[in-house]
Amino acid sequence: MRTAYDALAQRGMPLASNQVQYSLLHRQPETNGVLDTCRELGISLIAYQPLASGALSGKYLDGSRPAGFRRFREPFRGSGFEVLRPVVMVLKMIGDRYGKSPGQVALRWLLEHDNVVPIPGAKNADQATHNAGALSFTLTAEEIAYLNEATEAFRTYSPLRERVNRLAGR
Ligand SMILES: NC(=O)c1ccc[n+]([C@@H]2O[C@H](COP(=O)([O-])OP(=O)(O)OC[C@H]3O[C@@H](n4cnc5c(N)ncnc54)[C@H](OP(=O)(O)O)[C@@H]3O)[C@@H](O)[C@H]2O)c1
Repeated sequence: MRTAYDALAQRGMPLASNQVQYSLLHRQPETNGVLDTCRELGISLIAYQPLASGALSGKYLDGSRPAGFRRFREPFRGSGFEVLRPVVMVLKMIGDRYGKSPGQVALRWLLEHDNVVPIPGAKNADQATHNAGALSFTLTAEEIAYLNEATEAFRTYSPLRERVNRLAGR
């Protein structure tokens, strides 16, 4: 990102944004330097898969799995499901205070960060409209802190690393 920023700056152009995976279940931009560097250089961080591929909507807590390739990836397999439930419960508890869904709270948590713009995917207009509902409320500092605490493990958690370790018997 710094290389791209410098190369563009030499040509008089700003680096406007960097699109990376960022959600309550994938907080690595906070620990790998990307979010801090975005802030330092004035670059917007575009958060892709902000709903963790739909998992944070809460609708898969009944044990159903999404269609297509997603069903074979975290958080819809293995230990992913175990960690999903408590996170969605916290989202629901907070959302109930505002008449908002778990997914809307998950998107709002991203919106509360300086420089961060989530881009939720939507399968239809209803989902898109629903997701836009994240723009019409705010979270308190206490609620943000609670969500941060509930998902602390995902600041460094890497499903891929965990799987490699498991296969290696570590
Ligand atoms: N730069 C990259 O490398 C990269 C990588 C991946 C994605 N992206 C981009 O990031 C954006 C979002 O990623 P994503 O779509 O993979 O993940 P996402 O936003 O975390 O999840 C979107 C999925 O969640 C479900 N959903 C969305 N809104 C919902 C709602 N209101 N209620 C219930 N379910 C809802 C839908 O799937 P179901 O209804 O089927 O559950 C939808 O397809 C896309 O624009 C994508 O192109 C970029």
